[in-house]
Formats: sequence, C-alpha cells, structure tokens
Amino acid sequence: MPDPRPIGVFDSGVGGLTVVTEIRKLLPHESILYYADTLHCPYGPRPATEIRQLAVKAGEFLLGQGAKLIVVACNTASSVALSALRATLDVPFVGMVPAVKPASLATRAHKVLVLATAATVETEVFGELVAQFASGIEVHTQACPGLVDLVECGDADPSRLESLLRHYLEPVSIYGLDTIVLGCTHFVFLRDEIQRMVGNDVQIIDTGGAVARQVQRVLAERGLEAASGAPGNLTFLCSGDHESFLAAARRVLGGTFGAVR
Ligand code: DGL
Repeated sequence: MPDPRPIGVFDSGVGGLTVVTEIRKLLPHESILYYADTLHCPYGPRPATEIRQLAVKAGEFLLGQGAKLIVVACNTASSVALSALRATLDVPFVGMVPAVKPASLATRAHKVLVLATAATVETEVFGELVAQFASGIEVHTQACPGLVDLVECGDADPSRLESLLRHYLEPVSIYGLDTIVLGCTHFVFLRDEIQRMVGNDVQIIDTGGAVARQVQRVLAERGLEAASGAPGNLTFLCSGDHESFLAAARRVLGGTFGAVR
C-alpha cells in the first residue's frame, strides 16, 4: 500500500531547503512538511545541550504532524543530536554530516577545507568522521559566524558577505587547498559566490543529493513510499514569524518551487 503521509524535514531556517530541492528532484511525488525553527536560528553558536533539546522538540513536532520519516536537514542538529533523536522518537531519521568522505576521495592535493558551524566542528561525530575517512588528508575546519544570518536575512550590504567569505576562504590560497566541503546547508545557497572567489580549479562538495538518495533508500526499505503519479505537496511551518520565513524562502529559492505559500 502506498503511504501518502509527508516526509518531515527540519532545519533552523531556510538552509534545509537546499536538501528539499534535491528530495523534490528525486522524489517529486512525495509530500514534504518543512519545519524551520526560525525562533532559535542560528543553532551554530548554541551549546550542544540546547541544540539537542531544540532538535528533539522539532522532531516531536513533525512526528505530531504525521511525518512518516524525518530528515534532519541541518549538519549542526545531525552532528549534535541524531543519536538522541533516534533514541527518543519512534520514526526513521535521515541525518547529514559534512561531506568529509567524498572530499577526501576527491582531493588531488590531499588538502580539504570544511566550512561548517562552530557547533558542528566541535562534535565528537565530526572528529570521528575525520579520523575514519580522512587519514592522510590535511583537513582544515572553518567555523563561519555571521554567514547563516546573512543567508536568512538577505544581504543588505553585499560587501559584508564578500568580506566575510574572503576571510573564511583565506586557507584555500594560504595552504593550497583544492576541495571545499559545504558543511552547513545554508552555505549551499552561497555556492556560486564561493566558486567565483576561489576559481574553478577548486571543487565544492555538499551532501544534499546524497541525503535525497538515502531518503529514497529508507522509504523503499520500509515500504513507506507514496504512490507515483500526482506531485506531492510542499508545506512550510516555522516557530517564528511565518511571513518573514516565507519571504526568506522566496528570496533564496528564487521561484524554484513556484509560489511559496
Ligand atoms: N543549516 C544548519 C547546518 O547545516 C544550521 C545553521 C545554524 O543554524 O547555525 O548546520
């Protein structure tokens, strides 16, 4: 029997929409309930205990709304709270971590830069990821305070984004790095600016497509797939002001999903 219930997806704000874009490409007939915890955005500067509580609340909320599977479309919440979510809530979860493994396989210089939030790079999960998949690779990490807020609010002053990015990307030229991992879903919206600044010889990797493929696998394994045919719905919910969130979503998506309501 096809399962018409929605897939729940959450992030602190608009960042997870980069993952929703990939899920919609691969699974257009699945309905998605997107929850942005905008009242508590950004997560990155918060202590791990608080991020864990916020993530569990977001998961409970989506489960209460009838989600059949929950995607933690946030590297920060996944790195800090995925095991707590799985231990607390009875629903399948798909999480995400910075793409250290694919980047380690792709780098020719054996030198990688991971752009992520402070909370993500401080986790044990991230440390283990590097230890397990990046032996022999020089991994530079860069927490990027201010970038998430700029993606959320739009850039009233484009020179501020430019100067922050220049600063965070300095390790690329200093150390001769050839691969950048976008380890925060918000940063995927900055891919073109980043590519322009570092040049085309540097490859940029993110995890949205891999997360979508994992969602497809888990739905199939558990018999949770929706009927193919009719396109699925996309519904937006948030903990803060709904209109401001919709305005931010429209700005970052630029009409990708048609009218954002
Ligand atoms: N988009 C999130 C991530 O992937 C969280 C950003 C934040 O709220 O600091 O890490």
